[in-house]
Amino acid sequence: MNGLPQHRPGRRAIVIILAAVLLANFYLFGWNRRNDLWTAPAHLQISLPDSSSKESPTIAGYNETGSKPEEPEAHFSAPLSLEDRQAAFLRNLYTQIEEHAPPCPPPNIPGSVDGIGFDAVNAMPRPSLIINTDELQGPMQKAHDGFVAAIKTLRDRPYNNGTRGIISSAGGEYMPTFMASLRMLRRTGCKLPVEVFVTDWHEYEPYICEVALPALGAKCKVLGEILDLIHDRNDEAIKVEHFQIKSFAMLLSSFESFLWMDADCFPLHDPEILLDSDPFSSRGLVAWPDFWANTASALYFNISRQPELPMTARQSTESGIMLISKRNHFLTLLLATYYNYYGPDYYWPLLDQGSYGQGDKDTFVQAAGALGADVYTVSEPVVAVERNYDDWGTNQFSAMAQADPMLDYNLTSQSKWRVKNPSIAKAPRIFFLHASNPKFNAATDLLEKTQRYDGEPNRLWNRPEEVIRRFGYDVEKPYWKEATTVTCTLEHVFSSWQNITGLCEGMQHFWNETLSDPNANVLHFTDDEPAHDMPIEEPQPTDDSGDWGVP
Ligand SMILES: *[C@@H]1O[C@H](CO)[C@@H](O)[C@H](O)[C@H]1NC(C)=O
Ligand SMILES: *[C@@H]1O[C@H](CO)[C@@H](O)[C@H](O)[C@H]1NC(C)=O
Ligand SMILES: *[C@@H]1O[C@H](CO)[C@@H](O)[C@H](O)[C@H]1NC(C)=O
Ligand SMILES: *[C@@H]1O[C@H](CO)[C@@H](O)[C@H](O)[C@H]1NC(C)=O
Ligand SMILES: *[C@@H]1O[C@H](CO)[C@@H](O)[C@H](O)[C@H]1NC(C)=O
Ligand SMILES: *[C@@H]1O[C@H](CO)[C@@H](O)[C@H](O)[C@H]1NC(C)=O
Repeated sequence: MNGLPQHRPGRRAIVIILAAVLLANFYLFGWNRRNDLWTAPAHLQISLPDSSSKESPTIAGYNETGSKPEEPEAHFSAPLSLEDRQAAFLRNLYTQIEEHAPPCPPPNIPGSVDGIGFDAVNAMPRPSLIINTDELQGPMQKAHDGFVAAIKTLRDRPYNNGTRGIISSAGGEYMPTFMASLRMLRRTGCKLPVEVFVTDWHEYEPYICEVALPALGAKCKVLGEILDLIHDRNDEAIKVEHFQIKSFAMLLSSFESFLWMDADCFPLHDPEILLDSDPFSSRGLVAWPDFWANTASALYFNISRQPELPMTARQSTESGIMLISKRNHFLTLLLATYYNYYGPDYYWPLLDQGSYGQGDKDTFVQAAGALGADVYTVSEPVVAVERNYDDWGTNQFSAMAQADPMLDYNLTSQSKWRVKNPSIAKAPRIFFLHASNPKFNAATDLLEKTQRYDGEPNRLWNRPEEVIRRFGYDVEKPYWKEATTVTCTLEHVFSSWQNITGLCEGMQHFWNETLSDPNANVLHFTDDEPAHDMPIEEPQPTDDSGDWGVP
């Protein structure tokens, strides 16, 4: 059974629930009073719509349709909505995906390569662990050829021409983290519209999706709403999970050009400039490196009819952030979708052979390679941001920091490869952080990881100094403030936090103990956040008694 209807609250139900939540907030808990206690910069304040109004709340300057003027849409006799075009397109695509399923057993890989560090100078042999290559090459190559030929015949390009924005996916426990990332994005002054995908109606949180996110220029998209319309041979709605979500979300976003951000990634500077500059302007796809070498099997290059990539050419991809233009790379996205659809059994093992982080990460860049499309892979290595754990120099991994692609491109286009000779130029500034360990979700191990070996609280991002310097400012403080604001204003709202108490207090306690003291825990080697980045007021305690009556 595909059981759709009972899992899909109708629009009407959502509106009724939302109205109830709003009224409850107004009359019982005095929203404005709460907001006064937690004053955010004007443009970041969560504003509530007049409860009698049907309009979504907005804040000055945000524009749901995109920040660039739209080209006038061509109107045909009966123009289809974007959603209808996407559903029709996906149905055709899905037929081709099914028709070109790999007609053979999956790769047999005893063991795995684990992580092999990248070395741009000394070529190591490409790992080769697949033992049943003979029974795979012919059939998989034929299926790959067939799929590539088929997608070239698909005519429609279901996205809004000329639009640009930011896409993420953040259902369930990722939503609190995403809210903090989104607020960090807005602190940079970025006004691009944001589309955040949740997998299905279970993950659709009415208050978050209809009030909190729109107030920050973001809106929820339900992936399942379109995927449920497309049924497989057994008449089951197609299901996509985990790492498969990203390529479907990219396809079903309305934007032509976009920055993808995992829920735990955010920029340190306004990212819009990246969409107007090289390398993105000329390549239409920019990806960032992982710590590890590219460990695709030689068999993959045979199947996709590409020359084997030298091991020194580039790292594996870390796909927490990516820039993609559908105008240049629509077919790339379709082939990446194919790789991810058959990812868990076939293409992920072919592309990574069990390396750390095996999943969708390499599918985008490799798909472009298979289609002969140009991409830019940032050469500057990703660096680890660490926390000091004891008094004897032990540090622990906290986050990944990625470089400014414009500065990286400037160097590589002059044949200056810092990856081969770091002394050839200064390291470019850090542009994005991927805050993966811990994630800034108060209900995870966030506070636990602030403890040193002796139980003393300690900041999470203070080592190594040469990496923190490249931030340009002390980023951890605003991130804590934003995560605390999110926790204390939405503590009783997030569905994944339903039965948990004391989160706001825990966040405030850490702030009080550690970061609020101007004389302690100061990173003397970085500046404060630049004034134009809209510093936020110090968090203040809120009274924690309200139950916001969340459905
Ligand atoms: C949003 O942008 C479009 C295209 O530039 C424009 O026509 C529309 O008026 C804008 N809407 C708002 C609310 O600013
Ligand atoms: C979008 O742009 C493409 C390529 O320029 C063009 O072929 C197509 O007709 C445009 N679609 C709409 C709806 O304007
Ligand atoms: C790839 O194809 C070449 C040429 O046909 C062949 O020599 C090689 O063994 C193949 N590699 C793998 C891993 O099957
Ligand atoms: C690189 O940066 C330098 C210094 O800002 C500039 O003069 C040069 O034009 C840039 N080169 C490229 C290829 O962007
Ligand atoms: C919270 O508790 C209720 C009642 O015990 C339970 O039904 C619900 O699944 C819990 N929610 C979460 C997110 O754990
Ligand atoms: C944090 O500090 C404020 C002001 O100094 C104090 O009122 C509040 O009780 C503290 N909260 C926690 C949880 O430590």
